[in-house]
Amino acid sequence: MSRTRVHNFAISLDGFGTGEGQTRDLHFGHAGERLHEWMFATRWWHGDEPGGSGGVDDVFTRQFDPGIGAEIMGAGKFGHPGWHEDPEWTGAWGPNPPFHTPTFILTHHPRPSVEMEGGTTYHFLDASPAEALETARKAANGKDVRIGGGPTVVRDFVAAGLVDYMHVVVVPILLGRGVRLWDGLEGIEADYRVESTSSPSGVTHVTFTR
Ligand SMILES: NC(=O)c1ccc[n+]([C@@H]2O[C@H](COP(=O)([O-])OP(=O)(O)OC[C@H]3O[C@@H](n4cnc5c(N)ncnc54)[C@H](OP(=O)(O)O)[C@@H]3O)[C@@H](O)[C@H]2O)c1
Repeated sequence: MSRTRVHNFAISLDGFGTGEGQTRDLHFGHAGERLHEWMFATRWWHGDEPGGSGGVDDVFTRQFDPGIGAEIMGAGKFGHPGWHEDPEWTGAWGPNPPFHTPTFILTHHPRPSVEMEGGTTYHFLDASPAEALETARKAANGKDVRIGGGPTVVRDFVAAGLVDYMHVVVVPILLGRGVRLWDGLEGIEADYRVESTSSPSGVTHVTFTR
């Protein structure tokens, strides 16, 4: 059975999944890179390059890819406000994005699909979360669908009861402003088995399994 999964989704202690003031150069606004420093320190992030540490953060990051056949993301993850006015914009990850599957971007400004290197093809959808999931599931060919973010889209899919597994990483910083993950999701823990793992890096991995 194909599942819907969220991985490596970082939030501040006060629950923000991104900062305020996202621009082309500042993908996380005033949060800068602070939500993901724990991830940049892992061996997984370093890939074929030497360096990075093993341990609990590394183990969690590695669950991002296996079994995933498609990704759904929001327009705000795909690019800065206004990207849709730039016909050349093909996302924030360069020519070979790290998704390597069909990748569906939820947007009110759909455009023709774009094939990237490495197996990523961007498709643009103006659809409800349930409709988008149905489309992505077909493309995933029996594999799981990852909800890639940002916080608005993760929140919408959780609120619609569409997420089977969610890995949230609580980073010990206070952002104070930005886009919140948890608004409107009061009591969701009742629908999941919740487990927490503290890492020596200072982050806490919280998993929600339906
Ligand atoms: N913390 C993390 O681990 C993590 C992970 C990924 C991304 N991020 C960050 O999160 C930020 C983006 O998050 P966000 O919450 O601002 O935005 P988002 O969740 O990426 O996207 C929300 C936008 O997607 C479009 N959209 C959403 N649902 C739709 C639907 N059903 N139909 C059509 N369009 C739909 C709308 O944009 P339009 O109306 O403009 O089309 C909406 O404003 C970025 O800063 C990114 O770097 C954080």
